[in-house]
Amino acid sequence: MIDVPDHSAGPVAIVGSGLAGLVTALMLAPQPVILITRAHLGTQTSSGWAQGGIAASLGADDSADLHLADTLTAGDGLCDAQAAGSILRDAPEVIAMLERFGVRFDRAPDGSLLLGLEAAHNRRRIVHVAGDGSGAAIVRALVQAVLETPSITVLTGIEVRRLLMDGGRLEGLLCAHRDRSIVLSTSRVVLATGGLGGLYDATTNPGGNYGQGIMLAARAGADLADMEFVQFHPTALDSADWSPGRPLALVSEAVRGEGAILVNEKGVRFLGAQHAGELAPRDTLARAISAEIESGGRVFLDARVALGQEFARRFPTISGLCRSAGIDPAVMPIPVRPAVHYHMGGIATDLAGRSTIKGLWVVGEAASTGLHGANRLASNSLLEAAVMGMRAARDIAGTSAGAATPPSCADLPPAADLSEIRPVVSRNLGLLRNAGTIHCAIARLLPHVEHGGPEEDPALVALAIAVFAALRQESRGAHARTDFPLRLGCAHRRRMSLDGILDAARNMAPHRLARSD
Ligand code: SIN
Repeated sequence: MIDVPDHSAGPVAIVGSGLAGLVTALMLAPQPVILITRAHLGTQTSSGWAQGGIAASLGADDSADLHLADTLTAGDGLCDAQAAGSILRDAPEVIAMLERFGVRFDRAPDGSLLLGLEAAHNRRRIVHVAGDGSGAAIVRALVQAVLETPSITVLTGIEVRRLLMDGGRLEGLLCAHRDRSIVLSTSRVVLATGGLGGLYDATTNPGGNYGQGIMLAARAGADLADMEFVQFHPTALDSADWSPGRPLALVSEAVRGEGAILVNEKGVRFLGAQHAGELAPRDTLARAISAEIESGGRVFLDARVALGQEFARRFPTISGLCRSAGIDPAVMPIPVRPAVHYHMGGIATDLAGRSTIKGLWVVGEAASTGLHGANRLASNSLLEAAVMGMRAARDIAGTSAGAATPPSCADLPPAADLSEIRPVVSRNLGLLRNAGTIHCAIARLLPHVEHGGPEEDPALVALAIAVFAALRQESRGAHARTDFPLRLGCAHRRRMSLDGILDAARNMAPHRLARSD
């Protein structure tokens, strides 16, 4: 039995308990909030699995402008420079805020913060907690703070299946608890539901994350932005017992930063002269590794010379992950493969986290603020999650609940089934796309969206990726089209509502393939 508190004016409901959701809840205290999570508090979140840290321009040789320059370069011409500059400038404040909530960043003996270097950063600016276990340590500290905050009511084991709307007005949430339906009345909702890696066979995200927040917001009428930009991490641990759909452990690019090299089965470094070695941008490396695997080989990250017996001390989390897959990285090369790691697109928000629907805020990976452009710079994601959680909380604090209206009843949609969707998305909307694969995806996904059933919700998110991918007829950042290999001289971000996406999909798929095709 779930005890849903009755706040007659409607509480603020926060959906998701990764970094963005936890920060929003804490920053709203002492205002009452309900924090809703599908799993246990702070588990099944990408934040908790993050090995990188938080990028913050804190060094004496650094500045927010230098951090912005690196972010814009990685974003490949598609960042919203104003939004990016504004978010990056909040980094020092956010680090101090997290420390107030009990996060203990790694420090040098003299007490100064240790600043790490990651690929594509021109300064040392990554703060960590417990080395490569940063995400887990940060989430652990914030979960503890949440449990000690009386204004936060935590509801676990609850999945939000729909936002309840009445004529454009947000009235509540339709949730499932063990297939029983629960209606929560609220006019203010924060979606902090994370990414969509679960749509792909190979991902470093929790496997159930298929973009729930995007589905909820799109159905309610919110604009989506830049959905085609899905970032693959080049080096996920390719363990022998892996099967499609099961999340892969990450082998952080910090390992390559320490000198580990990429080799093929023969032990030969296969990166051609066109690549800037092991620290080339993620999309470039992911494509090179994928090509090697497609040609029938395997790829390994070899840290034996660079780190050897130092590996376990330097990377305790990764060492543990490797060992549980039967690999000792001190003496064995680590098998790796690309896997979906992060989604740059999402629900369009402003710099206070507001979506285009009144009363709906979105924070963290589910949102698209414009910070990341076409490709995210390493360790900017936890920064954005914390900054936007803080900002959304401040914005919400200045609003009132308004009169409570009992939401109208609605049938509980079925739990999502990803099994038919993953192969379509993986095959057609992966590292390399073209008109043929994209239109194939649209033709297969659209019937699921139109006919309903357990595939409908994940198919809707995947369809949005496909339509945005079809409309971007160039290659930029993480979006690589074999039929449009060049980058256009001038590009812009794109926003669309679900109606626009469905219209476009119907126009693009006039001759639909039968589901059995
Ligand atoms: C990594 O450590 O390689 C990933 C860091 C990130 O995705 O920001």
